[in-house]
Amino acid sequence: MTAMPPASTPVPAAVPRHLAVIMDGNGRWAERRRRPRIIGHRAGARAVNVCIDFCLERGIRALTLFAFSSENWGRPQEEVGALMKLFMNALDREVEELDRRGVRVRFIGERERFSPGIRERMDAAENQTRGNQRLDLVIAASYGGRQDIAAAARALAADVSAGLLRVEDIDEAAVASRMALADLPPPDLFIRTGGDHRISNFLLWQLAYTELWFTELLWPELDAATLQSAIDDYARRERRFGLTSAQVADATTEQSPA
Ligand code: IPE
Ligand code: IPE
Ligand code: MG
Repeated sequence: MTAMPPASTPVPAAVPRHLAVIMDGNGRWAERRRRPRIIGHRAGARAVNVCIDFCLERGIRALTLFAFSSENWGRPQEEVGALMKLFMNALDREVEELDRRGVRVRFIGERERFSPGIRERMDAAENQTRGNQRLDLVIAASYGGRQDIAAAARALAADVSAGLLRVEDIDEAAVASRMALADLPPPDLFIRTGGDHRISNFLLWQLAYTELWFTELLWPELDAATLQSAIDDYARRERRFGLTSAQVADATTEQSPA
């Protein structure tokens, strides 16, 4: 066992490589102000920029934002329609600046459920920003974790029936490679605003060993200080991945430079 570094040695705070966020509480934010829920969604769009700025400043390399779930289609038509308009405007307004800042934008979820206008803008945003490397920004829209797993199962079955894959070769890696976010490290840290402690069908497979962090703050109230507390909390946690504390400590000392 290698000796522990002296207590005075500054240990760089662990920065998550990939942050996954459930942006919740827009509706309640508006309702508390006796305003229509869509006003909350509009305010929530501003908080998205707070979050992106934070990742760019702190060197977080990937950010996945849950913008609209497969289940959110079931909301009142008026709210869904207003959200679609907001989505369209955001795509028109933000992509140029994201591109300029080196952000690669991608979308996960059932794209075919969106209008042709939104789909075209999604495709265009992805094409325009494809070469960027500073931050991978993934927008989960019409996304559901179960739907993601079902799609991977379908892809596996298709490969088996086409003779490209043998049933006995289906392992975790084979499933993972057919899921959304396959090319990114799994999220290190998950943040949910709005006070509810649940996953709400977000990334079910990918969150297996993600650290979870919740705040009562509503999404439109998000600020850099709150994100910083999440990151600070994350840096203090011990991720064991099923091993013992001693094993984790050994692995950490072995990896760090002498
Ligand atoms: C999250 O805010 C945004 C979407 C789901 C589109 P909500 O609209 O769920 O806000 P609350 O949870 O009702 O306050
Ligand atoms: C999760 O929030 C989905 C998004 C933030 C896009 P919901 O508001 O839909 O989740 P529940 O209904 O509270 O579980
Ligand atoms: Mg909600």
